[in-house]
Amino acid sequence: MRIVMIGTGYVGLVSGACFSDFGHSVCCVDKDVAKVNALRDGKIPIFEPGLDELVAKNVAAGRLEFTLDLAEALPGADAVFIAVGTPSRRGDGHADLSYVHAAAREMAPHLDPGAVIVTKSTVPVGTGDQVERIIREARPDLEFSVASNPEFLREGAAIEDFKRPDRVVIGVNDEHAAGVLHEIYRPLLGNETPLLAMTRPAAELTKYAANAFLAIKISFINEISDLCEKVGADVLDVAKGIGLDSRIGARFLQPGPGYGGSCFPKDTLALLKTGQDHDAPLRIVEAAVAVNDRRKRHMGRKVVQALGGDGNGKVVALLGLTFKANTDDMRDSPALAIVRALQDAGAQVRAYDPEGMEQAKALLDDDVVYCTDAYEAMDGADAAVIVTEWDAFRALDFDRVSELLRDRLLVDLRNLYDRADVERLGFRYVAVGR
Ligand SMILES: NC(=O)c1ccc[n+]([C@@H]2O[C@H](COP(=O)([O-])OP(=O)(O)OC[C@H]3O[C@@H](n4cnc5c(N)ncnc54)[C@H](O)[C@@H]3O)[C@@H](O)[C@H]2O)c1
Repeated sequence: MRIVMIGTGYVGLVSGACFSDFGHSVCCVDKDVAKVNALRDGKIPIFEPGLDELVAKNVAAGRLEFTLDLAEALPGADAVFIAVGTPSRRGDGHADLSYVHAAAREMAPHLDPGAVIVTKSTVPVGTGDQVERIIREARPDLEFSVASNPEFLREGAAIEDFKRPDRVVIGVNDEHAAGVLHEIYRPLLGNETPLLAMTRPAAELTKYAANAFLAIKISFINEISDLCEKVGADVLDVAKGIGLDSRIGARFLQPGPGYGGSCFPKDTLALLKTGQDHDAPLRIVEAAVAVNDRRKRHMGRKVVQALGGDGNGKVVALLGLTFKANTDDMRDSPALAIVRALQDAGAQVRAYDPEGMEQAKALLDDDVVYCTDAYEAMDGADAAVIVTEWDAFRALDFDRVSELLRDRLLVDLRNLYDRADVERLGFRYVAVGR
């Protein structure tokens, strides 16, 4: 199959590289000149484990290429995937579909008959109809299909998720589109990956419902963790106790500083808007969003409380800035609210993240001191705070830490350590829900 991927970000680049690894011929298009030039020079613009090797291998095999020029990429394409961003629209929380609409308008003049246009971006119900209308207006006589194929990969484990997904969801209105998508995903189907074919609106909604459900699970365990702190229970016991129930499942039951990233915050908001527009309010999702909004800043206050209730004159070492480990993505990371809460309380922040510092610098103000490793961040700090669950923070050298920290205080917002172990070393230990 000949595939064109429009948008070469976290999803487009991983999907394009994996499709080419399946044996398809893939051309990735992006408008960002620096990104395309970097990719052509063999440089990967994002941090995603294993992606550099996968891209290099498939470029060398002649199955994967990058271009700025849609007109050059599109002729002969069997499928054109749209993988552009769908951020929150400023002011109202609806998904901003301007990039999706622009991609549809730009591709229309260059499509060949029989092309299947597939939205891989996370888009609200009805977006497939809009894409179809835009192309139909530009090319009234063209035979084409529009399908939905939402993506469920997780940053940090994106290649594994793409190649061994729990399921592939396709929303199709016609046999031709179903056939093309079946052919594209055929290499996965032998591994018993279910390919779920449904209507386009059902596929579009499935992605939002999945993200909202996972966000609810996170907010739920975070509220239970607050209750655990009040009643002297250990949330890890409770999470295990409920997670082993197969009706509930253990994943997404880790308490922490709240969910962030490029998907859950914007997708939960967009789903709430869809619910309101259709007079079907989603109260449980609303509560999950409200709990999460409060939680991020509350984590900053938790640190200040641990410092004795006053941040003035205090120096805090933040270990980790990205919204989770194994990505450089800082979008809506809880670290952003935590830094602000600490600075508002008068504290100075020294920070280190293995991959996210460049992206963090663009989002945080200049008062943050960026360090080259965790130990430099802790040098002269009053307390260390683990914000992201990077492996590099799981086995800190506590002899070194005790020499560097002014006050032996570790605030562990990811519950990476055992309380008894840390206290035995003479540290005060503040965790989440324990
Ligand atoms: N990041 C994730 O983990 C993830 C997971 C599942 C689904 N999604 C969804 O996938 C979509 C893409 O997310 P992302 O994180 O990859 O976004 P991203 O911001 O990393 O990448 C989007 C890319 O599209 C490019 N672009 C925008 N308009 C274009 C156009 N008209 N022509 C060519 N290129 C264009 C941008 O330059 C950018 O490189 C979103 O809808 C998101 O919700 C993301």
